[in-house]
Amino acid sequence: MPTLVYILNGPNLNLLGKRQPHIYGHETLADVERDCVALAAELGVRTRFLQSNTEGQIIDWIHQAREDGAGIVINPAAFTHTSVAILDALNAFDGPVIEVHISNVHKRESFRHHSYVSLRADGVIAGCGTEGYRLALRRIASLVAEAGE
Ligand code: DQA
Repeated sequence: MPTLVYILNGPNLNLLGKRQPHIYGHETLADVERDCVALAAELGVRTRFLQSNTEGQIIDWIHQAREDGAGIVINPAAFTHTSVAILDALNAFDGPVIEVHISNVHKRESFRHHSYVSLRADGVIAGCGTEGYRLALRRIASLVAEAGE
């Protein structure tokens, strides 16, 4: 059974492609998922691609990843900047974590410059558009492979 990587998406990312396309682009979350599934097959990993607008649901998925996940790619969206609870959940997860932001949060409002999740993330990708998910997946796959060596 190939290694499982969770790809978690926070609030409003269900509206990707429709919401502020000048910032987040025209691709939908379904497009991102399709591309990640294709890349995962090349990399020899499996993905569980999930989105929720609810903080508790994201925390529950991180807890689930403790049981069966080898790594986590997470775009916590606005929870990035607010959620100690998501940070705590990630701190209870042992595998590699890569944080993704579609936009370059550092070029935007100052409240987006701070990330609780970055205190735990092994890597952060921001401002690479939806390609950032594929970059993150490649990095997670190599970290997971290294950990298994
Ligand atoms: C985001 C950046 C966050 O600041 C914002 O709240 C989002 C999306 C990004 O992918 O660029 O919802 O995480």
